[in-house]
Amino acid sequence: MNKERGNFGSRLGIVLATAGSAVGLGNVWRFPYMTGEDGGAAFILLYVGCILLLGIPGMVSEFIVGRRAQANAARAYDQLSGGRPWRLVGYLGILTSSIILGFYAVVAGWCLQYLYASLAGQVLGDTDYVSRYFTDFSTHPVKPVVWGVAFILLTHVVVIRGVRHGIERASKWLMPILLVLLVVLVVASCSLPGAMRGVEFLFKPDFSKVTGSVMLDALGQAFFSLSLGTACLCTYASYFSKETRLLHSAGEIALLDTFIAILAGLMIFPAAAAVGISPDSGPSLIFITLPNVFQQAFATVPAVAYVVSIMFYALLVFAALTSTISMHEIGTAFFTEEYHLPRSRSAWVITVAASLLCMLCAWSVGAFDSLRLMGVPLMDFCDLLTANVMLPLGGMLACLFVGWYIPREVVYDEFTNGGRCHLRYHRVFLFAVRYVCPICIMLVFLHQLGVV
Ligand code: PHE
Repeated sequence: MNKERGNFGSRLGIVLATAGSAVGLGNVWRFPYMTGEDGGAAFILLYVGCILLLGIPGMVSEFIVGRRAQANAARAYDQLSGGRPWRLVGYLGILTSSIILGFYAVVAGWCLQYLYASLAGQVLGDTDYVSRYFTDFSTHPVKPVVWGVAFILLTHVVVIRGVRHGIERASKWLMPILLVLLVVLVVASCSLPGAMRGVEFLFKPDFSKVTGSVMLDALGQAFFSLSLGTACLCTYASYFSKETRLLHSAGEIALLDTFIAILAGLMIFPAAAAVGISPDSGPSLIFITLPNVFQQAFATVPAVAYVVSIMFYALLVFAALTSTISMHEIGTAFFTEEYHLPRSRSAWVITVAASLLCMLCAWSVGAFDSLRLMGVPLMDFCDLLTANVMLPLGGMLACLFVGWYIPREVVYDEFTNGGRCHLRYHRVFLFAVRYVCPICIMLVFLHQLGVV
């Protein structure tokens, strides 16, 4: 193993840091609003199908590439392909994760601002007040930019501390707190009067809502949520130990990630139904429903409402942070290793680029709505471009690379840890990455383009 590279210190650290990358605003913010827009339970079934059929094999493929090569994403593909253009898959991943970091930081910045606002007791009021508060804040020309960039700087500080002391330690603390808080809020939300309509929306499928674009959304959301297709998993896997069982870890992470997304749905929709907010109100959904939940659910003891709301936004900030760290780490590892820059200087390259994009994205959904590309605000454009095109493409190429290109012995060796585990699943895995994943992703793309 290359001595200069960091690596995760324990098995728990590996799972928590990778799960920390996977669990984030994708689960608590994006999943609920996509589910709301795409019709509820039927979307969730498609989403779970994508996780099982395509997500887990895709994750294992990225793990194999990263752990085998022990290098940043671009070099990993380069090394394993003997200098063929597969390196481009690594570049694609680095580009994708940096774009995601740019727009993700906008929402993470909103969370940071809401944390501050709950501390200052500013988000207390009726439903109208709370939704006006969100609009006023998000359309302000300066505030959302400042909070977004502050979030990127926070990420920067953790990343430059390195893999074990920064990333691993942060994840070990933050993940368990997140889970406990989520459960408290699910209970609060489900006990509001009228909450059952929300639960029904979440669990009663209406298949008439399923269209080509809903399928693409489910695929994009599955990949986004697992951090799959950005080479993020590949980069993290390069810090795994030789003992890590890749399939096992992928399964654990996918399970935890899906569980948290469903919990987030159970936190939002019953509450939205209770306060009469439409489930398809888009990206602002959690920022408008949740302050209401806190107030109504704990109306008799306002102090509890106050504390819970602070804890909740703190939690969102933590969840987002463990994800932004991973997006940032991909590019930082790349510049450090390829251009021999000190780690802190490489981190600045990503920080500056992402901050610029964050500023433009924040303006596009707020102060300057003329910042549009292909008819949608720049922020939505970046979101759709990455989730619905770049991630599935990156994931598909990772599967093709592992399934068809790298030597069978290498795949066997990594998948089974040298013949010590998962022997039974090896063939199933190969079949999935050679045929099932590429064909399914291709079909979804073609369907969306109107070809099939
Ligand atoms: N999976 C993260 C989330 O759900 C987002 C993410 C995407 C992180 C791509 C890294 C890479 O919030």
